[in-house]
Amino acid sequence: MALTRQMKLGLNIVANGAHAAGWRMPQAQANAAMDIRLWKKMAQAAESARLHFMFWADGIAVRHSAKDDDELSYNGRIDVFEPFTIMAALAAVTERIGFVGSVSTTYNEPYHVARKFASLDYVSEGRCGWNVVTSWSEQEAYNFGRDAHMEHDLRYRRAEEFVDVVFGLWDGWEDDAFIRDKKSGRYFDPAKLHTLNFKTDLFAVKGPLNVARPIQAYPVIAQAGSSGPGQDLGSRIADLIYTAQKTRDSAVAFYSSVKAHGAAAGRSPDSMLVMPGILPVLGHTRQEAQDRYEQLQDLVHARLGLPMLADTFGDLSNLPLDGPLPAPLAGSNAVKSGHEALMRLAQQDGMTIRKLYKIMAGASGHNFVVGTPADVADQMEDWFTAHGCDGFNIMPPFLPEPAIEAFEWLVPELQRRGLFQTEYQGDGTLRGSLGLARPEPGSRSRLARAPAAKRSGHNSNLQPSDKTHEHVHP
Ligand SMILES: Cc1cc2nc3c(=O)[nH]c(=O)nc-3n(C[C@H](O)[C@H](O)[C@H](O)COP(=O)(O)O)c2cc1C
Repeated sequence: MALTRQMKLGLNIVANGAHAAGWRMPQAQANAAMDIRLWKKMAQAAESARLHFMFWADGIAVRHSAKDDDELSYNGRIDVFEPFTIMAALAAVTERIGFVGSVSTTYNEPYHVARKFASLDYVSEGRCGWNVVTSWSEQEAYNFGRDAHMEHDLRYRRAEEFVDVVFGLWDGWEDDAFIRDKKSGRYFDPAKLHTLNFKTDLFAVKGPLNVARPIQAYPVIAQAGSSGPGQDLGSRIADLIYTAQKTRDSAVAFYSSVKAHGAAAGRSPDSMLVMPGILPVLGHTRQEAQDRYEQLQDLVHARLGLPMLADTFGDLSNLPLDGPLPAPLAGSNAVKSGHEALMRLAQQDGMTIRKLYKIMAGASGHNFVVGTPADVADQMEDWFTAHGCDGFNIMPPFLPEPAIEAFEWLVPELQRRGLFQTEYQGDGTLRGSLGLARPEPGSRSRLARAPAAKRSGHNSNLQPSDKTHEHVHP
């Protein structure tokens, strides 16, 4: 029997829900983000529904663009768990579902990140993944000794080099390096240790890592930047591309661009899964779904909505909410792809300040689908069969009810259509479950590709010092 292509599904976690006003719904659990008991139940329910993974968005700050604490007090995304901590806790109460966490290359050190993910890969028995993000919020800069967010180009230059260091640390021990030979007294085989000795103007990391090579070699690598440099990074390193796409046409165009970038980087198209976010508002009937949607949108307070436009348009609080948008500010240093999407929306006929912030509060630029489970499944099937994606990150607008409905109404509908698995696949690891190969040492690292003498000229434009000795894997 020919194997049919099936979609991959993740559950995307944004604080207490993907709709910024969702926590205000009467049936929402407003403190969901910090309730470990809820998350344990949620992880187990997602696993019963056979979802591939849970996926945490994250930043290292209270991320906002509010002008003062009073305006900030309308923002419901303040208190969230640190991703490694929650992923480790949930790994202990599940068996098959994976956990992907966003961890920044801008406000971290690579040794820390390599070590934590290697540890989590053992703690989860091979079920973790790293969403490599470069951060977007100015607020993160203020927590790390900077008075402005690192500039977009530099963030990506740092990200490229950061992942080289992390991959190099993971590759530092061969799989069978730890012989622990009681007789001879040798704990590891020194021929199977490849100390990194990495030194450039950005990072000086000697190594080796004090954790063995991860179970998956590299935890599943996700990447979420959609700009040119974002796609370049993704096509080199990512197993999974997370993206915000509003229409089928834009999804199809993005999908083919990702796969073409991947092919140019020598990757096979199947080794990179493109998974846009989708925010479903479900109802037993279309009317019920529409009523829920309107209720959600009516809960978007202007004090919550206006700051969402502030990075692109500045302070709009003195302008009429039902009037048109002013000209945007010059150049944004935040999410280039998000900024461009916002600009496109702003230019639509009849767009007003209120309409635009409600769109942003709803799904932060992701695709909103309102309807019955069959309606939502129709759209998912359409995008999937048109090669607009390899699956979706489901973003429940609030918690827990819409997540449970996605598991109990939407997933069975997709399964009935043969579009989604009814059992986990593979060897128990997240890579296995997603049908992704375990990377060979050095296969995604620039360190292993370029001859040592030429390495100072690689495309990061960094100048390694004279003392640099970088290990090249055989
Ligand atoms: C769909 C999507 C999800 C993202 N999730 C996060 C996140 O959880 N944490 C974070 O710090 N940055 C996140 N980012 C920001 C990216 O890492 C990157 O900094 C930003 O998108 C700028 O790059 P770009 O211009 O290439 O899109 C996300 C971006 C996109 C498009």
